[in-house]
Amino acid sequence: MSGIPAHFRAYVAEKADDRVERGVRSFAEADLPPGDVDIRVEWSSVNYKDGLATRADGKVARISPLIPGIDLAGTVLASTDPSIDVGSPVLAHGYDLGVARHGGYAEYQRVPAGWVVPLAPGLSTREAMAIGTAGFTAAMSLVALEDRGLQPDDGPVLVTGASGGVGGTALAILADRGYEVWAVTGKPEDAERLRSLGAAGILSRDEVTAEGRPLDAERWAGAVDAVGGATLPYILRTLRHGGAVAASGNAGGAKLETTVFPFILRGVALLGMDSVPVPIARRRALWDRLATDLRPRELGSHVTEVSLDELDGPLDAIVSGSARGRWVVRVGG
Ligand SMILES: NC(=O)c1ccc[n+]([C@@H]2O[C@H](COP(=O)([O-])OP(=O)(O)OC[C@H]3O[C@@H](n4cnc5c(N)ncnc54)[C@H](OP(=O)(O)O)[C@@H]3O)[C@@H](O)[C@H]2O)c1
Repeated sequence: MSGIPAHFRAYVAEKADDRVERGVRSFAEADLPPGDVDIRVEWSSVNYKDGLATRADGKVARISPLIPGIDLAGTVLASTDPSIDVGSPVLAHGYDLGVARHGGYAEYQRVPAGWVVPLAPGLSTREAMAIGTAGFTAAMSLVALEDRGLQPDDGPVLVTGASGGVGGTALAILADRGYEVWAVTGKPEDAERLRSLGAAGILSRDEVTAEGRPLDAERWAGAVDAVGGATLPYILRTLRHGGAVAASGNAGGAKLETTVFPFILRGVALLGMDSVPVPIARRRALWDRLATDLRPRELGSHVTEVSLDELDGPLDAIVSGSARGRWVVRVGG
């Protein structure tokens, strides 16, 4: 027995010629794909990829119509997997969710059991989506840097795109772990908020996108970068000897123009982050840490709450680079 009603509300994106039509409509349970776990969705969030999934030139959506939403959190209504309890709070993100399989912008969703993360005590479904895919990627980045040996007394760490989801969460987690964190932002008016999240210093976007020499003065022990473009070359040429950058995004552009000198003369490392295929055991373990020692400072307070009916604006704003903190989507009651 599914427990999902025959019809429910969902925000749907559908290709129509060279446009994408999007908005809330009634969706039939019969049109959901098969799966092991039925979830009453309470919260989802707005990620950069969700914005792309609702644009004709976004190159992200792989089915049409698509219910976007690359992450969701809610309560289990039915489960064929005995390890996932009916009535328990869970989240899901990554894999094909919101891209090649219907995602979180729906009152109900059905997913494979191997995608489900039971929520650790102490993390509400709203808090889980305040972290969301962006925050998970921030945590992945920090763990990758620390696995490579980074420690707070190694020196300052740089976080780019600091007003956004990945950057803001990385900043908050790193600061709480005792790092001296410097934030790069294109929004000088956000400086105070970034300092309250833990930034010891602020760099302007212009400073890190200007032309530079193949190697500049060594400054950063590590970096978390979700911007790419002209920013990543700056990081590579200013990392200290043996430093590393965890790179997850292309909000500032996809092209990377650098030299080999940071790698061969300073032994720096470029660590690629891809949150999509992370195996479920690792994903669950990292979420357990996000509920405990990696729990971001002021979790849930730098978010804007929107309903399914209010999604158009945030989806456009995140692609245009005007994100400030994260949007959580109140899906169910
Ligand atoms: N690899 C993965 O698994 C993974 C997971 C999640 C996200 N991502 C990627 O990471 C990136 C950020 O995602 P997000 O959810 O954090 O997005 P977001 O909330 O929109 O944050 C991106 C931030 O980047 C900065 N930015 C935007 N446009 C820029 C430009 N043209 N030049 C330089 N900086 C710019 C802005 O911060 P400031 O104004 O403060 O500079 C913006 O707030 C996206 O490319 C996304 O696809 C990848």
